[in-house]
Amino acid sequence: MAFTIKINGKNHDVDVDADTPLLWVLRDVLGMTGTKFGCGMALCGACTVHVDGAAARSCITPVESVGASEVTTIEAIGATAAGGKIQKAWLDCEVVQCGYCQSGQIMSATALLAQTPKPTDADIDSAMSGNICRCGTYVRIREAIKQAAQS
Ligand code: FES
Ligand code: FES
Repeated sequence: MAFTIKINGKNHDVDVDADTPLLWVLRDVLGMTGTKFGCGMALCGACTVHVDGAAARSCITPVESVGASEVTTIEAIGATAAGGKIQKAWLDCEVVQCGYCQSGQIMSATALLAQTPKPTDADIDSAMSGNICRCGTYVRIREAIKQAAQS
């Protein structure tokens, strides 16, 4: 089936099955490989994108459900106000270790900061609890979100 989906401000025409996960469309059809595949079951957060500004697990988001919603990925998040602050704080705090989980971490953190500019520890825990990091960068992630909230 043919779908037109708006990603990072630009319309893309794709011809895929209606139940194709958005993650496959991003990575395999459009070549946007910044969004990662981890579990495929909404358990790890590696595939997190924004759909109309809210964090969403693209591995379980059928492309047919996107409709006219605006999808934002890690490739463009730095151009948003909250995303720019988060990415700067990520660099300042040297958050990244292997990096595999980090695009998802940044997408979840940015959705949090955009909706809650001064998050509490509980807000951070709630927003980030679904993003797993095998390298255990959680302490630096929390530090970076707090730094971004003060910038
Ligand atoms: S790949 Fe989507 S949550 Fe793990
Ligand atoms: S930085 Fe390696 S999994 Fe998170």
